[in-house]
Amino acid sequence: MLKQINITLNGVERSVEIDERESLLEVLRDKLYMTSVKHGCGVGECGACAVLIDGVAIDSCIYLATWADGKEIRTVEGFEQDGELNAMQEAFVEEGAVQCGFCIPGFLVSATELKETNKSYTRDEVRKALSGHLCRCTGYQKIVEATEKGLEKE
Ligand code: FES
Ligand code: FES
Repeated sequence: MLKQINITLNGVERSVEIDERESLLEVLRDKLYMTSVKHGCGVGECGACAVLIDGVAIDSCIYLATWADGKEIRTVEGFEQDGELNAMQEAFVEEGAVQCGFCIPGFLVSATELKETNKSYTRDEVRKALSGHLCRCTGYQKIVEATEKGLEKE
């Protein structure tokens, strides 16, 4: 069944017609053109489709778009600040944490969720927070180091 939902997407109110069977991933990519949100496994295993929903990192491939009605959604497209990369994005570039880049928006979403808590985290806690994301390129070490650096930046 078709339905209209209203969301705040990267700070902008959007209204979009969805099929109630569609995932949020499908709606974000195919109807709202948020192509940072990647379709990896499609079953909640790889984290490539993660977005912030009311500040919490969630795999959008296993989240129905209808559930997002009235919620605030943030994707990497909305992370820049005044045209510049935000602190976490800068840290990923500086630490060379990106290879093919497919998994990186998802990692940035979870890393940003951590940063917005304004708390300190041990390396084990950072690894645990990122453990829902798979990367086929980097071996994870640089991604963990970049996240730690991003947490320390202003
Ligand atoms: S595409 Fe959603 S978790 Fe893999
Ligand atoms: S950088 Fe290629 S999959 Fe992670």
